[in-house]
Amino acid sequence: MSNPKRYLITAALPYANGLKHVGHLAGAYLPADIYVRYLKAQKRDVVFVCGSDEHGTAIPIQATKEGTTARDIIDKYHPIMAQNFQDLGIAFDIYHRTSDPLHHATAQEFFTRLNDNGDLEIKETEQYFDEEANSFLADRYIKGTCPNCSYPGAYGDQCENCGKSLSPDELINPVSTLSGKAPVKKQTRHWYLPLNRHEDFLREWILKEHANDWRSTVVGQCKSWIDGGLQPRAVTRDLDWGVSLPETVEGGKGKVLYVWFDAPIGYISATKQWALDNGKDWRPYWEDKDTKLVHFIGKDNIVFHCIIFPVMLKLHGNILPDNVPANEFLNLEGDKMSTSRNWKLEMQDYIDDFINKENGGSQMADVLRYYLTQIAPETKDSEFTWKGFQDANNSELVSIFGNFVNRALVLMHKLCKGKVPPLHPNALTDLDTSTLAEFSVTKEKVEALLEQYKFRDALFEVINLARIGNQYMQKKEPWILAKQTGEDGQPLTDAQQSIDNTLHICLQLCANLAVLINPFLPFTARKICYLLKVVDKMLDWENAGKTKLLSVGYSLRAPELLFRKIEDAEISYQLEKLQSAAIKRESLVGSSESAITNTEKIMEENTPGTLPVKPTIVFDDFAKIDLRVGKIIAAEKVEKADKLLKLTVDLGFETRTIVSGIALHFTPEEIVGKQITVVVNLAPRKMRGIESNGMILMAEDAAGKLHFINPEEGIDNGSSIS
Ligand code: 2FM
Ligand code: ZN
Repeated sequence: MSNPKRYLITAALPYANGLKHVGHLAGAYLPADIYVRYLKAQKRDVVFVCGSDEHGTAIPIQATKEGTTARDIIDKYHPIMAQNFQDLGIAFDIYHRTSDPLHHATAQEFFTRLNDNGDLEIKETEQYFDEEANSFLADRYIKGTCPNCSYPGAYGDQCENCGKSLSPDELINPVSTLSGKAPVKKQTRHWYLPLNRHEDFLREWILKEHANDWRSTVVGQCKSWIDGGLQPRAVTRDLDWGVSLPETVEGGKGKVLYVWFDAPIGYISATKQWALDNGKDWRPYWEDKDTKLVHFIGKDNIVFHCIIFPVMLKLHGNILPDNVPANEFLNLEGDKMSTSRNWKLEMQDYIDDFINKENGGSQMADVLRYYLTQIAPETKDSEFTWKGFQDANNSELVSIFGNFVNRALVLMHKLCKGKVPPLHPNALTDLDTSTLAEFSVTKEKVEALLEQYKFRDALFEVINLARIGNQYMQKKEPWILAKQTGEDGQPLTDAQQSIDNTLHICLQLCANLAVLINPFLPFTARKICYLLKVVDKMLDWENAGKTKLLSVGYSLRAPELLFRKIEDAEISYQLEKLQSAAIKRESLVGSSESAITNTEKIMEENTPGTLPVKPTIVFDDFAKIDLRVGKIIAAEKVEKADKLLKLTVDLGFETRTIVSGIALHFTPEEIVGKQITVVVNLAPRKMRGIESNGMILMAEDAAGKLHFINPEEGIDNGSSIS
């Protein structure tokens, strides 16, 4: 099949409401970047767009949380996110933002065209209204009891306890999070995208045309949406943060476009801005059928990119995506990655700990890129573990890839006078020839896999070529041949010819590795070019598979290691950091980073005592917890941890060490001698290198002050509480 004339590659616009984690990176940005780097190395016409998604309720909610305005929030996070992507080698052609006037105009034009063409429906409905705040309530601003699991803190769009998608009408006893009062129903008018009119098109386009070339997970999710019956979706909201409805729209005053209507149009406005900046025409990228449009996203965005946005694009007269290679989720150390639970690895944290701290730290960006691609959740959820990260680096990047390049350079300097040795055709062995043949075999495999968005398999093939290189060198043993010297102390001619051939082939293999690894590990590819003293142009894909990339007699630089070993201590540090961040969240210490969301706080302030009750458990669940009376007999601050105290607790039957996140509330002196309640059968956890064996129960009052749960005086330590 011939290549399309041009490519437009998009990566999901992240909400500018906070720092993004490596799950986001693995889900959309890294695979998109690999694909784009591959296309660019092929000199294809490609534009890679992304930007911040700056509307929706996520932004004002974060603003309330941080005690600031929505505008301040987006102005704070947009540049940090752009910088994080750059530091990790994600090379967008433009990182735009949806607050830009160009985007507002583009989204308004889009809406107007659909509205004028009669492609939208207007409906009068009753929606929840907060009389005290004088405001209609977005789904996220309403809380109540989940009809599915009875969790009392479910949101109007989703229950975070059981995960069910909800509409505000389904909530039992709804409460406005703005005032804490029960909302009333009030008449309002909204514009709807009648998806039901497009069912036949969607069935044909997704379930027939793309049944085999889209990922089965994507087709499967689309099928269940379509089979579930498509309904008209409201595309406007009564909010004051977002893209206003065009002034020409009657009755549109005070309304904004639904964030999921405006955000994907952000791909178009980003392309327009890129074209303006580069003197190009944006139209063919969205209007010419010879453009291949590919959306890289995480699985939670499938319905928007495969059903809703394509319907919008079709109605507006644009091209449709050729593929939507959505990834599943990346878990972290056995649990779902979660910002609210503080169970995550933010890109910023990785950059601070591994990239900014070291000289030449961008190699460490490649280490993360490597591991995330190796475990990419392409077909099912996968898991980031710090041990896996260390192993991928130490056992593969250091021991296989880096080791091969390093040995080739070291031996070339030692045995071939620092220059690329000649190839002696008469002295070629079968092993030499078959190794040379592997170059193009690998190139073909990698290319085919990348074209099918199988990035982890493609990366495996590149590393496999380095593995082949190591085995080849090991079998040829040029260092042994170098010992076969004549009377003049120089290697015999046959031996030198074999050494030359071996190192010639190894060096050409290094050059191939640079070309092939470039889409995945761009910093490493450039470092190899530097060592081989070639310009980055060598990385053009047409050079992959070639056996004569380096000229004979060319002198190369002294070897430098491509990757460094990652020590156990670095891994334990990360594990402890993860655990203590989550514990800090559990103990709700530190008001600015408190896990309770602001909406929950507002609820508490307005309706005292209504902190949602957790879902019901059976007696057996409760009986598993072993609670005992204990006494703090010693306490000290934990070094380099503002919030942790190391406690020695007498439990009567034994003495234990417990690390507790209460240092901002109590000094060590004031708590020694106190009797407390302890969970004694909690699995041990290491925090800052100290093993904590249990947990102290605390109560938090309305002002956020912590109190011990003291038993009556004089009770024996170790007494059981039930
Ligand atoms: O899920 C998200 O983070 C959304 N902000 C993605 C938007 S993608 C596109 F439509 F802009
Ligand atoms: Zn629920």
